[in-house]
Amino acid sequence: MDTGSIRPSGIARGIDLEKYRLRRFVERLIDMGEVDVHDDPVPLTALSEIIEANERAQLFRRAGPERAEIVAKTAGSRRRLTAAFDTTDEQLADSYFKRLSIPQAIVEIPSSDAPVHQIVIDGSDVDLTKLPFHPQHAFDGSSYISSAIDYTVDPISGRRNVGCRRLSLRNRYEAGTNVTAPSDLKRLYTACVARHERLPVTFTVGAHPLDFFAATTRREGDELALVASLRGEPTAVVKSVTNDILVPADVEMTLEGYFDERGYVEPEGPYGEYMGYYGAIHMNPVFHCTAITMRHDVLHHTVLHGSAFVLHQTDAGVIFAVQIEAAAMNVLRQVVRAPVSVYLLPVSGGMNNLRVSLRQRAEGEARKAITALFEAIRPLKHIYVFDDDIDIHDHNQVEWALGTRFQADRDLVIKTGMMGMTMDPSLEGRRTGAKAGFDATRPFGRESEITLMRCAAKKFARLARFQTVEQALVAAPKFYAELVEGMGGDDGREIASALDDLRQAGRLGRDRDGRYHLGSFRPGTTGIIGELYPDPNEGA
Ligand SMILES: Cc1cc2nc3c(=O)[nH]c(=O)nc-3n(C[C@H](O)[C@H](O)[C@H](O)COP(=O)(O)O)c2cc1C
Repeated sequence: MDTGSIRPSGIARGIDLEKYRLRRFVERLIDMGEVDVHDDPVPLTALSEIIEANERAQLFRRAGPERAEIVAKTAGSRRRLTAAFDTTDEQLADSYFKRLSIPQAIVEIPSSDAPVHQIVIDGSDVDLTKLPFHPQHAFDGSSYISSAIDYTVDPISGRRNVGCRRLSLRNRYEAGTNVTAPSDLKRLYTACVARHERLPVTFTVGAHPLDFFAATTRREGDELALVASLRGEPTAVVKSVTNDILVPADVEMTLEGYFDERGYVEPEGPYGEYMGYYGAIHMNPVFHCTAITMRHDVLHHTVLHGSAFVLHQTDAGVIFAVQIEAAAMNVLRQVVRAPVSVYLLPVSGGMNNLRVSLRQRAEGEARKAITALFEAIRPLKHIYVFDDDIDIHDHNQVEWALGTRFQADRDLVIKTGMMGMTMDPSLEGRRTGAKAGFDATRPFGRESEITLMRCAAKKFARLARFQTVEQALVAAPKFYAELVEGMGGDDGREIASALDDLRQAGRLGRDRDGRYHLGSFRPGTTGIIGELYPDPNEGA
């Protein structure tokens, strides 16, 4: 195997070629305590079990017989993504949206300056079987590289496309791939096949998490430029050695080649999919590898994909969640007056279940939000809307609100015949299905009624604003704990006695919510002001 000469890496045309290198990002994650490092040799068959069982990113220093260095789950938590975007958790979705809107330059550098061309293996030296493809789920069809990002150019329009597609090992020069789901790549490859043409492609393997955001964002225009936008800086690209595709010059490894002109000719799969089930075998194209290029100290990369019950740790689940949260907040800002926050549960497949909290400023805003979100964001399947007193990241608060504020016959919004996600097994192969919105907000305008108020211990401040209970009630009717606080005591029993003195004197009344009032009533009894709430136990 000719591994070529080792070339320097550093700065080219003013661009730092180390800043967005995956290895540098992993070093930062190690400093943050986000990585488990395995120094002992680990066989390739053991990788997925370890990756799936541990929440942190996993770095294996000596994987497989080649003792390859391979890292997993670099995008598998919000904390890691927050580091990738250099922002805070609260700002993450907005940061993604903001970067998307700011164009950045793509700067082509020569191969001699490109770190990813430090080693070039081409011709008959190409050997995919020496790379750390590894078994990932119990019923997968082969060993996989799951972290590949594909770069292609539409031969007709010249538009550059970027996406993520897994690669399954077939032999030294070939890998299977999955271009089954609707995608821009599928469209442009199908058109090539109709013209009996190959489609050149270069995969990068070992990319910064921001590049995955670019790869999973679909848009009409040039998607190579998205990589630079997401990085928030001009990005150096290099032309592939055996085709004309430009790819980021600072990644760890590339696999160059083409999808052949035969089209969907080989069965691919099953493979664990992002909803936690297997995708069935489908006919798919074959990738032919014409060159492997890499850094001389290449860091291999794998992602956790599709493992049920830990989807919140999968790279795709966490990435999709942030993207959908950003889109949802954008929709909400247009249709309701006071959206507060959104939370897409990655464990629901990164796209199924969205929680929303808002301050309703008009009756029906919760339902308006549900309808607008379903219309704008196709992957959403269940939307739960809460008042802003609920922390939607706290499962206890969410379950409490669902259990106590939601009536299925009144608050459930069901939409039928809606476009779903083809990977959702509950659709049983259909393209359309049902979606449900859960309006778990309190009845509009009645939030301050005592029976709709959240019950919790009073946190007393020592105010001492009044000399007597009577004085306090002259100022305004008050709840018992407000009287205790207003008198500045740290006991409370003396207030009950003072209230009883007023009661005996016929001067004490109470309203339906329980506030004490001063008034004129029958001595020895508490007067009732207004009507009490109906007794739900009456007749029971
Ligand atoms: C880690 C990861 C792996 C993925 N693997 C595949 C895959 O094998 N096949 C596929 O069709 N989509 C896959 N996706 C989703 C696509 O990359 C995504 O739909 C993308 O937007 C498609 O790009 P395109 O429409 O520009 O071609 C994957 C996404 C992630 C994050």
